[in-house]
Amino acid sequence: MTVDSEALLQVSGLTVDVRVEARPVRLVDGFDLTIHRGERVALVGESGSGKSVTARAIMRLDPDMTLGGTVAFRGRDLMSLTDKQMRGVRGSQIGLVFQDPLRSLNPLKTIGAQVSEPLRLRGVSQSEAWARARETLDSLGVVNAAERMRAYPFEFSGGMRQRVALAIALVAEPDLLIADEPTTALDTLVQKRVLTLLDDIAKDRGLAVLLITHDLGVVASFADRVSVMYSGRNVEEAPVREFYENPGHPYSQGLLAAVPRIDRDVIELRAMPGAPVRPGARPEGCAFRARCPLATERCAEVRPASRPHLTPGHTVACDVVTLEMAS
Ligand SMILES: Nc1ncnc2c1ncn2[C@@H]1O[C@H](COP(=O)(O)OP(=O)(O)O)[C@@H](O)[C@H]1O
Ligand SMILES: [Mg+2]
Repeated sequence: MTVDSEALLQVSGLTVDVRVEARPVRLVDGFDLTIHRGERVALVGESGSGKSVTARAIMRLDPDMTLGGTVAFRGRDLMSLTDKQMRGVRGSQIGLVFQDPLRSLNPLKTIGAQVSEPLRLRGVSQSEAWARARETLDSLGVVNAAERMRAYPFEFSGGMRQRVALAIALVAEPDLLIADEPTTALDTLVQKRVLTLLDDIAKDRGLAVLLITHDLGVVASFADRVSVMYSGRNVEEAPVREFYENPGHPYSQGLLAAVPRIDRDVIELRAMPGAPVRPGARPEGCAFRARCPLATERCAEVRPASRPHLTPGHTVACDVVTLEMAS
């Protein structure tokens, strides 16, 4: 791979394998992504395309999964770190937040204990950790944070719990936040509020964000760049405007086809004709070809590589589209 010295996170040829009933199954099949300092990248794709597995693999959260390829963070290869070193990266250098804050919060510990914990683990004193936890909760719009820190998760609403989860991810001031559908479980108004807060914090701190979402409205308002995932690989990557104006991959075009306006409240990826390919049943050649209006015989044989498309920073993994442009 070419090493990008400006890159904060550089994922190259990532593969994730598991065993299902003793049979090997490849969940992620060659995923590439580069995120620069302060950049926001949205990862989109239908349910089951491998977005969450990719996020978890970058953080090495599942010991049962076999990982291949490289993941470099600030030029350091995360794959070769010990588990202990990796625990040091999580939270302090890369923050993580998931869709369901109830599952990531401990019901038996106070909010204050949980938000200050990442700092305590790094040797910060109790009083300082508590003060910084309070500031972080404040900045996320938790009113009366000092008092609320003595409460337990069940005393918080869904939106407030997600702010707490964000506070835990951000309290140690990481350079990168990986957020996997962080607002999906919340109602529209609360979603907007939480994303606006995240937007403000990211701007303030120069935080880079990998935002996994299926909401194309959120992508348009939040991200600088979009990566589209299908069947364990990225099939298109583009600056956000370019993506909406000139989606190159037939899959991206399908995702965008039913979106009348990108400034509506919530824009779900529409149900495209056909079903996504299951990881155990991925065909040779292009995994999208069975659903693709442009597929040719070649698509059954050759797996399309990502190639430059139209403008700088835009790549598409579709031989029909990219080779046609080139000819
Ligand atoms: N631990 C696992 N073992 C086997 N299959 C898995 C495991 N985790 C996820 N999968 C499968 O991998 C595919 C990708 O899942 P996921 O990354 O959760 O998709 P997404 O987040 O894009 O909706 C799905 O088909 C899912 O069923
Ligand atoms: Mg997911």
